[in-house]
Amino acid sequence: MTILKILTYPNPRLYKIAKPVEEINKEHLDLIKNMTRTMYECNGIGLAATQVDFHERIIVIDISEEKNNLIVLINPDILERTGSQEYQEGCLSVPHVFEKVERFEKIKVKALDQDGKHFEFEAEGLLSVCIQHEVDHLDGKVFVDYLSTLKRNRIKSKLIKVQKKKLINNE
Ligand code: NI
Repeated sequence: MTILKILTYPNPRLYKIAKPVEEINKEHLDLIKNMTRTMYECNGIGLAATQVDFHERIIVIDISEEKNNLIVLINPDILERTGSQEYQEGCLSVPHVFEKVERFEKIKVKALDQDGKHFEFEAEGLLSVCIQHEVDHLDGKVFVDYLSTLKRNRIKSKLIKVQKKKLINNE
């Protein structure tokens, strides 16, 4: 298994719209394993394929403290959205930034599992936030896009500075 490199905001590849998975093959299954490993290693609760520069609709999520409740969503689709909630969000592609974002409270989701089987479920609270955040990634949207231009630009220049420093130090 491999730890994958995560694209950092404002990398333009984070704005690519992911295509639906047509047929789940070994490449997808290997990717899911590596995405899961990468998410756990980086202490994330969700990771979208877009973030590792693979532009097909795959998400891994685990919001459990014990990291033993993995949810894999292939071609996820949010069917229903109700209510609203605000949550302090972070993202592995936007390191060290946490900002409040308003999302739907409850959602109904359909997706395929790793065997290609359809399933549907309802999510609320943190799981709902996380799914909405990750589906956004597949649609080329990062959570900072919900913030004011001023805030977003501040975050952008801060992250660009950090990345330049890393380049100079060859990290
Ligand atoms: Ni994210």
